[in-house]
Amino acid sequence: MEKRWKVAVIGTGDMGNQHVKGWNLAGHEVVSVTDIDPERANELASKYGVKKVYSDYKEAIGDPEAEIVSICLPLALHAPVTVYAASQGKHIFCEKPLARNFQEVAEMEAAVAKAGVQFGLGFQRNLSRGVHTVKEAVQEGRLGRPVVFQCDSVAQIRPKRVMHDADGNAGPIMDLGCHYFVMFQTVFGSLPKTVYARGQIMAKDREELAHIPRLAIDTAQITVEYESGDIGEFSVSWGMPPDFKMKARTDRIYGPLGGMEGGFNGNPKSLKLYEGNQTEELKLEGYESLHREQFDLFINALNEGNPAPVSFEAGKDVLAVTLAIFKSIETGQVVDYASWCREIGR
Ligand SMILES: NC(=O)c1ccc[n+]([C@@H]2O[C@H](COP(=O)([O-])OP(=O)(O)OC[C@H]3O[C@@H](n4cnc5c(N)ncnc54)[C@H](O)[C@@H]3O)[C@@H](O)[C@H]2O)c1
Repeated sequence: MEKRWKVAVIGTGDMGNQHVKGWNLAGHEVVSVTDIDPERANELASKYGVKKVYSDYKEAIGDPEAEIVSICLPLALHAPVTVYAASQGKHIFCEKPLARNFQEVAEMEAAVAKAGVQFGLGFQRNLSRGVHTVKEAVQEGRLGRPVVFQCDSVAQIRPKRVMHDADGNAGPIMDLGCHYFVMFQTVFGSLPKTVYARGQIMAKDREELAHIPRLAIDTAQITVEYESGDIGEFSVSWGMPPDFKMKARTDRIYGPLGGMEGGFNGNPKSLKLYEGNQTEELKLEGYESLHREQFDLFINALNEGNPAPVSFEAGKDVLAVTLAIFKSIETGQVVDYASWCREIGR
């Protein structure tokens, strides 16, 4: 029988819940949950019959039973908790995005390398059958090349206020954009060439955010041109009023021969394919749980002594694009991606 790994889940908010569920579905044992909010942690522990509850992540990580640390914490904690888990010789599975900057990444990578542990990064949405179907269509030339890929998000100011903190989760370009930037790269099979973006803080006068000293950009129009000639566009605003009802547009991709439409990275049941004057509904067999799927892949690699399939490289590619977008917004200039990577040490 395959080894049943013992996992400590740190952070019991939305992703903590998904991780406990996903690790269970994958057949592993969550031995502890940890949160500074004991009510949340206790509720999750009793829902899934988790034996131990901690409020201090160092205690949970130091527990000799824990073999894997599953990090579901706000972005500013990804680096310190990864470094601590590695120092205790634990494998790490960390939620996206990787970190806020390349200094943090360097600390995380050094700690992981020194300890000889594995580090997996959570980009479960990129495993969606929708992404793979679009990737196949593009790379087989079914839509023609180059393609234009458009993604959109419009939402009320986020109830989790840390999302709006430039020193916290750093706004939608960092927090949500990462799902789209990894998807563009996957579908195009290519690296960025240039980045151009405009951005603003639409919610700057909202009193709900007045306590945050440095607000993140919450609204942006972003265009990334890839080496392949394909274009990724991401348009986002998290600056809308509470209970705002207007929905984002669904994802679209089109080239000289056809197009596709649907929620590509949301594990969709079907996608629309347009070829010439024809329309077809493509039915997709989705995974039961993308979280379970990403844990299966991580554990297969661990069991076989291979590196984690999604790890620092994917996180660094996405971070480099994210920081290039911030730079373009700040300067009003197009950022050349290769020069930018040299400048930031990517
Ligand atoms: N993969 C995805 O689709 C996806 C979706 C949402 C969020 N995320 C990522 O998951 C991470 C967590 O996001 P979330 O939505 O679950 O946030 P959340 O706010 O719902 O949960 C975070 C939890 O961490 C706890 N916490 C904060 N500081 C702590 C500390 N020092 N020690 C212990 N617990 C602490 C908070 O009390 C909270 O319960 C973020 O990096 C986010 O970007 C990923």
